Amino acid sequence: MYKKILLTGVNGQVGHALQQTLLNQGALSADVVSLDRSQLDLADQDAIRRVVQAIKPDLIVNPAAYTAVDKAESEPELAYAINATAPQILAEEAARAGARLIHFSTDYVYAGSKAGAYVEEDPTQPLSVYGKSKLTGEDAIRATGLPHLIFRTSWVYGAYGKNFLKTILRLAAERDALRIVADQVGAPTSSRSIADALSAVMHQWRGDVSGTYHMVNAGQTSWHGFAMAIVEEYNRLQVSRGLPLLKASLDHIHAISTQEYPTPAVRPANSCLDCSKLARDFSVTLPDWRNALIPELEALSQ
Ligand SMILES: NC(=O)c1ccc[n+]([C@@H]2O[C@H](COP(=O)([O-])OP(=O)(O)OC[C@H]3O[C@@H](n4cnc5c(N)ncnc54)[C@H](OP(=O)(O)O)[C@@H]3O)[C@@H](O)[C@H]2O)c1
Repeated sequence: MYKKILLTGVNGQVGHALQQTLLNQGALSADVVSLDRSQLDLADQDAIRRVVQAIKPDLIVNPAAYTAVDKAESEPELAYAINATAPQILAEEAARAGARLIHFSTDYVYAGSKAGAYVEEDPTQPLSVYGKSKLTGEDAIRATGLPHLIFRTSWVYGAYGKNFLKTILRLAAERDALRIVADQVGAPTSSRSIADALSAVMHQWRGDVSGTYHMVNAGQTSWHGFAMAIVEEYNRLQVSRGLPLLKASLDHIHAISTQEYPTPAVRPANSCLDCSKLARDFSVTLPDWRNALIPELEALSQ
């Protein structure tokens, strides 16, 4: 089905999960070449061309990205180089070699002002440099015309990598009280859920359909709701193992507004993404966000 897969960003959350869950388990009988930043710097256009031409993959999977949302506001050139120009060159090289491309994008391509969940056909209106750079990358891939899939995901976390889950566990262990934004809603999505879903898609995809899909865990919550769930489920695990609870109790996790927690980048208030298209075209659905949280907490406390 695939002979040689080139996977970027293997030290990132999604890249690591893909390598572990999907490729290392031999789920696809393909030769997988996994590259980190030191082996392929996506800010170096010549290096991208050279590496793709040398490896000759028939599928490129690109979870690598410039993901520092706030820092991107003061580093737009680097954000665009990695999130817009690099995907374009990957797509051009893939097209030249007759290969396909799987790429990841974000809920931050939307303005977040819609009343319900976004569908893929809704107008995009990114509010941040990061969102704009990711949308430019998407557009460049579509313009190349090669067989491609773009998956927009949101609020990615997991036992591996830097993310909200790890930050909350650290802060709740150190402090008596936390203040977490409650007026941004979306779907926390585990890197493991993404890897499982992508594996299912990859087994079916013949390159005949190309398109953009939402890929997030089911359900929705706010960052405050996510923090509450993290503390509640982590404490439940601690009790079952006779270990101490976190310092910050649930009634000391306070809901605040976005206005009370200003950041350099503006984030969408509504990040909810409808995944019906993924279910319809590939029969793939991701588990509820709260159920997906448990295995990540278990992996962390082992
Ligand atoms: N994280 C989220 O909440 C979130 C939400 C929505 C969409 N997404 C999208 O989902 C995808 C996966 O995100 P993630 O959470 O796995 O991100 P991540 O954990 O931040 O990983 C990003 C990876 O990209 C690599 N990278 C950055 N600059 C690079 C460069 N110049 N050359 C090569 N590699 C470079 C990083 O390398 P180093 O390890 O060396 O830094 C890292 O391994 C991305 O497309 C992202 O835009 C993420």
